[in-house]
Amino acid sequence: MSPYAHITGWGMAVPEKVLTNRDLANMVDTNDEWIQSRTGIRERHIAAEDQTTASLACEAARQALEVARLNPTNLDLIIVATSSPEHIFPATACLVQDRLGAVKAGAFDLLAACTGFIYALEIATQMIRSGQAQNCLVIGAETLSRMVNWQDRDTCILFGDGAGAFVLQAAEERAGLVSAVMRSDGSGGDLLSVPGGGSRLPASLETVKQGQHYIHMKGREVFRFATRVMTQATREVLEDAGMEIEDVNIVIPHQANRRIIESALRNLKIPVERCMINLDRYGNTSTASIPIATCEAVSQGRLKAGDVIVFVGFGAGLTWGAALAIWSAPIPGMRRILPFQYRLYARLRSWVLRLLRRIDALIWGKHNPNI
Ligand code: ACO
Repeated sequence: MSPYAHITGWGMAVPEKVLTNRDLANMVDTNDEWIQSRTGIRERHIAAEDQTTASLACEAARQALEVARLNPTNLDLIIVATSSPEHIFPATACLVQDRLGAVKAGAFDLLAACTGFIYALEIATQMIRSGQAQNCLVIGAETLSRMVNWQDRDTCILFGDGAGAFVLQAAEERAGLVSAVMRSDGSGGDLLSVPGGGSRLPASLETVKQGQHYIHMKGREVFRFATRVMTQATREVLEDAGMEIEDVNIVIPHQANRRIIESALRNLKIPVERCMINLDRYGNTSTASIPIATCEAVSQGRLKAGDVIVFVGFGAGLTWGAALAIWSAPIPGMRRILPFQYRLYARLRSWVLRLLRRIDALIWGKHNPNI
């Protein structure tokens, strides 16, 4: 029988710096009352200069590995879901792989905007269920503050930086992701986009002058789309799992706007008490919002083994999706890992590999330029 993909580790990282609504009111024509009443957001965390998507991802990943008591060397796959990768390539996931010292893991980025974490969970689950992988690391990580136009009040009030990570491991007992739906509609791609910097509009003085490297959004249309698909995806994922709304212990939605979440809950007749909402303190952290909310649900004692969770989200693309999971715990019998030693080992390993590559280039580069 196919193994199940248990969620055995979880971790989160947010920058220390907090930007409140009052701070924003000093930057653009807005105010705390408007932002709170229209979005539910009070404050968000903003990356310091030396923090990047990969550094936040690594912090969250190390915590998740520690909870799971899994050494990075045992990872088979790393997926980083992100809309703010460090570069177009190399993938941020590869930078994370190197920094963790995950010597035998494949690594790639997944771009499905805020739905990315749900897509990544489902892909990692299927890798485990098919027997291709035993241990996977799924990360949602963002520094969207670097892509926000801080003079555009329509968007700059919404986003925050952060990362969250899950470790998924093969196990026999029925738990972990039980069903998932992944959907898209590219006809709405223009509703939410970063138009410049790709191959269609390569970065140039002109694209920068026109602000095409910033997030552009048609807020009202995204709002209407979001409330509709959150309801639809939750219903579909429950049907796939053969469950009813009453079976769900907690809904952990993408944290974009409190009104969107409440409207979806009303349609589904789920009381707000059965939903994890923490966007007031983080804003919309895109792919990181679901794992960050999960970590906080755990630390608040809102999740116990056997609980049924619905993760549901939407984002640019347009994309949306949901996943139904049965919460499990770290696999018993795993030995305590030594995070500090592994960190040191990963650094040393990376340094030696770079050095060897240089020596290799010195020796072979001169002899045969065709190699
Ligand atoms: N402060 C004060 N007033 C504002 C602000 C602001 N920051 N922004 C807009 N307004 C004004 C508008 O100009 C407008 O004024 P007008 O009536 O004189 O024209 C008024 O407030 C109402 O504007 P709306 O756009 O209708 O406000 P709405 O209630 O729709 O809220 C919001 C806007 C918060 C953006 C909402 O539409 C929303 O949350 N949409 C979804 C966005 C979202 O979730 N995006 C992320 C997707 S996930 C991803 O993939 C990254």
